[in-house]
Amino acid sequence: MKIVSVLNHKGGVGKTTFCGCTAQALALVGFRVLAVDNDSQHNLSAMLGTGVCSPGLHDVYCSSADSAPAVLLRSIRHTGLANLHIVTSSRELCDADVADMHFLRRVIDACDLGRFYDFVLIDNAPGMDRLQVSSVYACSEIFVPTELRQFAVDGIVEMAKTLSSEHPFGGRITRIIPNFYRDTKRQNSFAEALRRLFPGMVTATAIPADSVFDELVTEGKILFLHRFSSRGAAYYLKLIHELFDMSEEKVWNMVLAKRDERRSEEARERFKGFGK
Ligand SMILES: Nc1ncnc2c1ncn2[C@@H]1O[C@H](COP(=O)(O)OP(=O)(O)OP(=O)(O)O)[C@@H](O)[C@H]1O
Ligand SMILES: [Mg+2]
Repeated sequence: MKIVSVLNHKGGVGKTTFCGCTAQALALVGFRVLAVDNDSQHNLSAMLGTGVCSPGLHDVYCSSADSAPAVLLRSIRHTGLANLHIVTSSRELCDADVADMHFLRRVIDACDLGRFYDFVLIDNAPGMDRLQVSSVYACSEIFVPTELRQFAVDGIVEMAKTLSSEHPFGGRITRIIPNFYRDTKRQNSFAEALRRLFPGMVTATAIPADSVFDELVTEGKILFLHRFSSRGAAYYLKLIHELFDMSEEKVWNMVLAKRDERRSEEARERFKGFGK
């Protein structure tokens, strides 16, 4: 089981969108995925269609070490996709008193989640407070979606320094994913700067700026089922192939098969309704 924390000091860079779309893609390809919403804004819980559920992650943090594993297991919810489950968040999470930043890791280990999941993806609020640091200790890898701007590059450099100086035993930044890409000279120069600063970590695939991502959230749709022909979907599939070392063709074929399966189920349901 691989545990990935999706993190960036900066807000609005696409962390939740990345976490949600990647979790859905991995689940469609057949992996068993647990998404963890570690952000009191609970955007991931909304994006994956469950909304706020009780118990949720706040209850896990508020539980004793003995009872927390059972609370975590009870917090796991189904989403609209088979293979994709979520632990939801709520506004109260910002009041969670995270005294021990290794707590989340211990709880995950105690649940032996590897029996049930291939991937755990943790979405985080912007910043680097105790909640985010808990996810750093819980994960083995940190993925950083980013804009291509001066402050974004500066922010990642600072984040990398903080992680190595203050949390040397937590997960490490392994991938940096350019988002909102428009192929301008300016953006390309920031992408180059990032590649020099973080050799081998910046993905070759940059996610284009595409209004499809806003539509997904507003309409409660799934990128790979409902907006399969968008540029956003095409680039996300390339990204999955790159990040998780999967054959691009396999990813396409499995997602296509799932989409067709879903369409025929929907058609069958509509057909059942005729004549009633
Ligand atoms: N590639 C993209 N092109 C266009 N819009 C995008 C793209 N990626 C994300 N967005 C949109 O940008 C907004 C911010 O994205 P998102 O919520 O994923 O960022 P975030 O980093 O999780 O924000 P926060 O720091 O508040 O948690 C959303 O409205 C989302 O739909
Ligand atoms: Mg977010």
